[in-house]
Amino acid sequence: MTRTTSEQMTRQALGAHLAWWGLRHIESDAAYFAWQREVFTPQELAILHQHIEAKRLATDGPTAEIAFYDLAAQPRSVPALYSQRYEYYLQVGSRVARHLNAAPSVLDVGCGIGLLTTFYAQQCPDCAVIGIDRSPASIALARKRAQELGLGNVRFECLDVDQQLPAGRFDLIIATHMLLQSEQDQGLPSDDWRTFHRSADVQAQQRFEQRTGVGVRLDRLLDGLAREGRMLVFEKTRQLARRITFQRALAARGLRLLEPPEPVRYCAMEDVTDDGPFYVLGVVPRLETPAWNESPEPDDAPLFDLAALRSAQAQDDQPLYENHESSAQQAWMALCDKQVLEEATREEPDGRQWHVERGRAEGFTYLYCANTFDQRQLVLIEPARAAVLETYYQEITRDIQSSEMGRA
Ligand SMILES: C[S@@+](CC[C@H](N)C(=O)[O-])C[C@H]1O[C@@H](n2cnc3c(N)ncnc32)[C@H](O)[C@@H]1O
Repeated sequence: MTRTTSEQMTRQALGAHLAWWGLRHIESDAAYFAWQREVFTPQELAILHQHIEAKRLATDGPTAEIAFYDLAAQPRSVPALYSQRYEYYLQVGSRVARHLNAAPSVLDVGCGIGLLTTFYAQQCPDCAVIGIDRSPASIALARKRAQELGLGNVRFECLDVDQQLPAGRFDLIIATHMLLQSEQDQGLPSDDWRTFHRSADVQAQQRFEQRTGVGVRLDRLLDGLAREGRMLVFEKTRQLARRITFQRALAARGLRLLEPPEPVRYCAMEDVTDDGPFYVLGVVPRLETPAWNESPEPDDAPLFDLAALRSAQAQDDQPLYENHESSAQQAWMALCDKQVLEEATREEPDGRQWHVERGRAEGFTYLYCANTFDQRQLVLIEPARAAVLETYYQEITRDIQSSEMGRA
């Protein structure tokens, strides 16, 4: 069987498994919210939103998070709530499934209601699978569903990874959307607004690992990893400032990439989500493993062709060139003989910086913005419309000065 055929079969099996759990692939927000209103009363929806908000704001331990996952694990709620992550399950589940056959013992940490864990056990009857989670209601539902599916090779335990792992060592540890849950944490800023580079800063790294809890969790997982075992890790780390700190936490513990990291893009109903990368990791001392990459991901924004821009016809209020991706930095650096007309740089007490400048180069007027959380923007316009950029410059400087800098 070719790899493509086998992957198609895995995806089909995963689709059937999600359907068994009652999940539906819903593409429009309107259809999804109509379904939610059929399932939940307005009071139930209000309680759900209170729990989401409490989890988002919690700074004093896991109580609010556990309460949220307990509420979400009520069997009646599962199809409607978890269908929001339908595409996520397809993407993550099919990638993890590729690695199951080589692993007699598998640990899925932060397994939630066991939606994917039961799929892994089903796909690989020879694997002994354990799922752990600190939400009691999630584990209760996982156990019930595993029994209904007649799975004899999976068990579930209610454990907090920050405190304890099940006894033994595992050939494969799966950690998807559980190691780095604090989405508000922006990670480590770059050295200054001109660069994406981060110097090694041991204390800043330690602070990141402590406040997100990722350090404790990784140490615990490494204690449970068999010699030559593998870890599959998938977290929300597409932002460079988070990716670099997360990768440094992995690398500092001797974890190496066994395969090139794989960024993943999927839809959460109508929203396109950039997630991952999906990492396949091990502690094996192999010199030929792919290097950790701390550069921004390549983007699709075109670099400009000056000759083409000079002959381009101005289109109403459209700039001649606009780039909001990280490659805007490269484009800005390629502008020759820049004459800066006005510029502002703001530095916060913690070192974060924001910069905007308006200038002339190559016969155009340009505006360039950059900050230490990797946001970049370059706009080029012909001199006849230079006033547009002057107004834009003033708006940006006013906005930034009146708001906290660096919010993504
Ligand atoms: C976003 S869900 C992800 C579930 C599943 N891994 C997936 O990919 O669909 C995060 C889960 O991790 C669990 N979790 C978070 N921190 C944990 C910890 N320290 N110990 C055990 N479970 C944890 C939560 O209770 C929740 O069920």
